[in-house]
Amino acid sequence: MQHRPIKKIVLPVAGLGTRFLPATKAIPKEMLPVLDRPLIQYAVEEALEAGIEDIILVTGRNKQVMEDHFDHAYELEKILQEKGKDEALEISRSMLLEEGRISYVRQMRPLGLGHAIWCARKLTNGHPFAVALPDDLIKGKPGCLKQMVEAYNEYGGNIVATMKVAQEETSKYGVITPGVQEGNKIEVKGLVEKPHPADAPSNQAIVGRYILQPEVMQHLEERQVGAGGEIQLTDAMARLIDSQPFHALEFEGRRFDCGSKIGWLMANLSLAAEDPSMAAQLKTLVTFK
Ligand code: G1P
Repeated sequence: MQHRPIKKIVLPVAGLGTRFLPATKAIPKEMLPVLDRPLIQYAVEEALEAGIEDIILVTGRNKQVMEDHFDHAYELEKILQEKGKDEALEISRSMLLEEGRISYVRQMRPLGLGHAIWCARKLTNGHPFAVALPDDLIKGKPGCLKQMVEAYNEYGGNIVATMKVAQEETSKYGVITPGVQEGNKIEVKGLVEKPHPADAPSNQAIVGRYILQPEVMQHLEERQVGAGGEIQLTDAMARLIDSQPFHALEFEGRRFDCGSKIGWLMANLSLAAEDPSMAAQLKTLVTFK
């Protein structure tokens, strides 16, 4: 069966990034670099690799610098051109998408992830869409979103990317109640946001990648408050389960929680270890298992 293609992605980027203060006092956490690229760029590149065309950023106050990142930097480009720094010029221009393919909408109040996604409802405009949380940097070949689009082409409906976590870690994540498993695809029978480890229905935790049907917006519209007093995406997704296909994809790759200092550091080290220009020097400092 032909499923409606996934051409849009919503990237919620309104969060305050308090865990990285003071670094994030004047710059958004999504602009923190991992090696040479800001986190937001990894998410956009992963989306483009998956064939997604329209990028929707749900921003907040003090996030304007991300618009600049995806625009021309005329002064810089002119200087690089004059100096004949072609490679640097190329890199600086590499994130220029065709005009109109990237849009910005503001989440004006911090009411939760579900509310952030709902803020993009006019831009997703009745189409199925992907969501990526740029804090979750995922290294995969192919990228996690591409793996998910492939699963979606097979199953349709809704797909969340999951990974196994230790039972005591389940309280940090959305967790699935698993049904029938086929390879790395698992039928989702239920979803709960940040359960107490004793109550967690499994240890399959959602990482920040989703493919969702537009009906999720209707559930978000109800503004039901859930875990942590926030409007949770997980709760709205849970209400789709009875009426639409819903699967988890235990993706292949490695996820780094770049919303935490240790996760961000590990992402840097892991990417550097794979870069021939850095790997040898890095090994003098760190031993990798
Ligand atoms: C969000 C989601 C949660 C998911 C997690 C993945 O939580 O609400 O379901 O497991 O991202 O990173 P947050 O980390 O924003 O609290």
